Amino acid sequence: MTASPDADRSVPDGPEPSAGPARTAAEPPEPEPQLPVGVGPWPGGPAAWPDDPRYDPELLAHGDRRNVVDAYRYWTVDAIVADLDTRRHGFHVAIENWQHDMNIGSIVRSANAFLAAEVHIIGRRRWNRRGAMVTDRYQHVRHHEDVSAFKEWADAASVPIIAVDNVEGSAPLDHGEVPERCVFLFGQEGPGLSPEALAAASAVVEITQYGSTRSINASAAAAVVMYEWCRRWAR
Ligand SMILES: C[S@@+](CC[C@H](N)C(=O)[O-])C[C@H]1O[C@@H](n2cnc3c(N)ncnc32)[C@H](O)[C@@H]1O
Repeated sequence: MTASPDADRSVPDGPEPSAGPARTAAEPPEPEPQLPVGVGPWPGGPAAWPDDPRYDPELLAHGDRRNVVDAYRYWTVDAIVADLDTRRHGFHVAIENWQHDMNIGSIVRSANAFLAAEVHIIGRRRWNRRGAMVTDRYQHVRHHEDVSAFKEWADAASVPIIAVDNVEGSAPLDHGEVPERCVFLFGQEGPGLSPEALAAASAVVEITQYGSTRSINASAAAAVVMYEWCRRWAR
């Protein structure tokens, strides 16, 4: 798997259940069109295959239907991870997981898209990986038993903890400084960040909102924050 050697890989839930649209008993199931995605077998057959260990013979033979950018077509997962590892960004993301939060999978997917150094899951080891859409294969995911273990890791790694929540005293993210090296810490649906998590942080930032809802969901908030970090630092 892809976790760095010292990372304590968290355990995702088992196989993804198939998700179909909600139907009433009266409605017959509608067949979903199976649209081809990705690429078919490497043109020209085995004689034309590239002589490069990064390419996966299975994918060359049968095609690559994965959700990967074109530059990584036909590459093995290990080769993709090794390449990502040469250019990962300076930010990490962390989320508290006391209630089996459904947002974690989506946060892992966004962390992959924005090339986070690592994702940290604090609390329950198991997490719902449905929203990750298998991007967790390409992402280093580390588990921490509780906030104090997470803070110990952050202090040892000299990575400042930036809590992200719209609580009293939060500074607007769009008007403040965003360090190049940091870990953004997110709370869960409902309770938001725990008091321990807020106390562990060296800064608390919020995403400015304009409507009537108190908050956006945690995975949307994580995507906004990662995008803002990239806007300032990504090259
Ligand atoms: C649904 S919010 C819950 C708590 C929120 N503090 C409240 O007052 O309702 C869940 C998590 O999403 C993130 N979040 C949602 N909206 C946010 C915002 N406007 N600014 C910063 N973080 C936000 C935070 O990490 C928060 O802990």
